[in-house]
Amino acid sequence: MNAQALIDVARTLVSDDRGLLAMDESNPTCNKRFAEAMIAQTQESRRAYSELLVTAPGLGKYISGAILYDETIRQRTQDGVLFTDVLAAEGIVVGIKVDVGAKSMAGHPGERITEGLDGLGERLAQYHRQGARFAKWRAVLALGAGRPSRGCMEANAQALARYAALCQEAGLVPVVEPELLMDGDHALDLCGAATEDILWTVFDQFRIQGVALEGLILKTNMVLPGLACPRQPTPDEAADATAACLRRVVPAAVAGIAFLSGGQSGELASARLNALNARSRSRLPWPLTFSFARALQTPALKIWGGARANVPAAQQALLHRARCNRAARRGEYDAAMDRG
Ligand code: 13P
Repeated sequence: MNAQALIDVARTLVSDDRGLLAMDESNPTCNKRFAEAMIAQTQESRRAYSELLVTAPGLGKYISGAILYDETIRQRTQDGVLFTDVLAAEGIVVGIKVDVGAKSMAGHPGERITEGLDGLGERLAQYHRQGARFAKWRAVLALGAGRPSRGCMEANAQALARYAALCQEAGLVPVVEPELLMDGDHALDLCGAATEDILWTVFDQFRIQGVALEGLILKTNMVLPGLACPRQPTPDEAADATAACLRRVVPAAVAGIAFLSGGQSGELASARLNALNARSRSRLPWPLTFSFARALQTPALKIWGGARANVPAAQQALLHRARCNRAARRGEYDAAMDRG
């Protein structure tokens, strides 16, 4: 492992007020989104959509890294150029999702454990040869009666730490994603307490497994109430709850924190990221950025609808959200950017 090379990549991922484009939906998830938008669920539609995303003109101004899926990392544009080469030419670091999904966890009804450690070392070496310099692994935790349980948190945290150690050994920066879902009607403070507990468990495992904090990115949820909670916070309230939680648990050595969007609208995700940076940027040790899928892609997917003629308009919609989020990193996003 070249520790300095890892640190350099991790710093690049959070540099210049840019963030990550998560475009690593598994085929089933991608097909589900396509079905909702009445788009054909074929390998060619998935390829065409990924081409639309990676060839959006000037994407590298806002996006530092793109997270691909196993199918996508091998794909090419219609003109025969590998997506990985298109991204590299834009100054965008290639990332790859390497977990194989969250499965029902034995002995823990309603909870899930993320799988994919078997053979991971060899897969990482292959992805590195294909140009990937960072990876992603997502653990999913739900909030409810007795959940997340200690058993679920510890098993997922250990898997995240082993994944992170394997990545660093293979020369890839691990993006470590423990996601507490927004499903439910729980209040903001419950999400804060559970997120804190999860992150404590994850960082404890990093220490046990010898993960280098300087060479990783934490991808986590913002502290927010459940989507069905009647009392929704202002962006400032959400930002303060999130900053308080992270300050208690995340070591200063971590290279950066990139938030997932988790089902928030694009506008809300930008407003909350903006409030975080506007209120806390100078008082927190890590850059706070975005690693959104839905909050970057949803308008673009709707506009595209599977039609080639809509590609330029869809790309503009993607670039608009990317621009809003770069502004949010600077604390300069204004809802007016999303009006008109
Ligand atoms: P969302 O931003 O849609 O939550 O997706 C982020 C992600 O990468 C999930 O693993």
